[in-house]
Amino acid sequence: MRCAVFASGNGSNFQVLLDRKSSGDIGHADFVLMVGNNSKAGAFDRARARGIPALHIAPSRFPTEEAYAESLLSALSGAGVELIALAGYMKKLPPAVVSLYRNRVLNIHPGLLPAFGGKGMYGANVHRAVIEYGAKVSGVTVHFVDDEYDHGPVILQKAVPVLDSDDEQTLAARVLQAEHECYWQAVEAVAAGKIKVAGRRVIRLELQD
Ligand code: GAR
Repeated sequence: MRCAVFASGNGSNFQVLLDRKSSGDIGHADFVLMVGNNSKAGAFDRARARGIPALHIAPSRFPTEEAYAESLLSALSGAGVELIALAGYMKKLPPAVVSLYRNRVLNIHPGLLPAFGGKGMYGANVHRAVIEYGAKVSGVTVHFVDDEYDHGPVILQKAVPVLDSDDEQTLAARVLQAEHECYWQAVEAVAAGKIKVAGRRVIRLELQD
């Protein structure tokens, strides 16, 4: 499947996808486009280094959400995109994109949904909330995107411990390591058609350790 990756920041998850593609672990997805809302995002450098077309499309530059959606849809159809992987993308996708790509947009969230998700719960905010709450486990959720923040069907989850000594940075690093271990597997499984969605349940994904 022709896959676009959306990223807002450093892009380490994007890099793992590119590396797993190079190593042959990802065989069913081709990364044909990167889209970012922040022109300074490290993800742009990673795309350039691989010769992947990268587009800066920032919602703030459009007069309406419809105009923003049209720009995204025209970029996606121009590149023949069939699958979208959000990899540290901090903007909500417009409903027109979500409905056209129903069950074909994956997101990675740095916490165990449905806890510590929703509007404003991204990046360091999640790790801070987990520590302040006193949770003993956190982790990664990969899910399909629907019209609500952090809400669509769960594709996979991987837990990590929260240690007494943790601060936001140490917990973020442990969760990010788990993200790097599992996001590529979800992207490959979806691209390979190895999963089924039945209501909220996503079945037949086997996670490698
Ligand atoms: C990752 O931890 C990802 O889960 C999180 O941003 C980080 C991006 O890191 N995404 C969200 O919070 C989305 N709501 P990266 O740019 O190095 O891949």
